[in-house]
Amino acid sequence: MTVVTTDRLVIREWTDSPSDLARIFDIYSRDEVMRWLGGGAGTLTDPEQAAERVQAWRERSAPSGGRYGIWAIEVRDSGQAAGSVLLKPLPGADGTTPTDDIEVGWHLHPDSWGHGYATEAARTMVAREFATGTREIYAVVTPGNDRSMAVCRRLGMTHVGRRTDWYGGTEVETFVLEHPPA
Ligand SMILES: CC(C)(COP(=O)(O)OP(=O)(O)OC[C@H]1O[C@@H](n2cnc3c(N)ncnc32)[C@H](O)[C@@H]1OP(=O)(O)O)[C@@H](O)C(=O)NCCC(=O)NCCS
Repeated sequence: MTVVTTDRLVIREWTDSPSDLARIFDIYSRDEVMRWLGGGAGTLTDPEQAAERVQAWRERSAPSGGRYGIWAIEVRDSGQAAGSVLLKPLPGADGTTPTDDIEVGWHLHPDSWGHGYATEAARTMVAREFATGTREIYAVVTPGNDRSMAVCRRLGMTHVGRRTDWYGGTEVETFVLEHPPA
């Protein structure tokens, strides 16, 4: 199901199609991607795990009625899924309990880096969330992940330094976008 379209992208739900499951495995089994996501915890090691991952994503997004979730970023010209964009409440100091702070995030296959897709996808999802009345959206980045911090800056986010409020106290570079702009 399509959530939003942009000039070059369709933001849609991940499906159980063979091509989506293969793509999810290809993305979430790679060190170039997973090293930046919780230090590699949750790396897929078997293609069979992709369907379980999609199911877990669905279960997590269901209570919000589709407001939060992790969606496929499909490139309209090629039909290829470049990766994922996500929007969700940040998990707090215990690592699981959702806080009131909303996170935007992006995970692209390396073959889709360098086209502006992460920024384009995130920009539209952030606008959608701001339209619900949310005043601030955060991005949290593992120190050293320069490409991700560049996405934050392209989105116009402000760097507020390293914080340990979320993800079980993990230290993360924190960016915030305010609506309306400060
Ligand atoms: C973080 C990540 C999404 C960044 O991807 P990215 O492709 O660098 O970011 P964008 O999609 O915003 O693309 C920007 C690049 O596309 C280029 N670009 C090309 N055509 C463009 C266009 N039409 N519009 C905008 N940018 C364009 C930009 O110049 C920029 O290139 P540069 O890096 O050489 O300066 C990607 O590296 C990734 O998935 N990493 C692994 C997972 C990860 O770290 N996730 C974040 C966890 S916090």
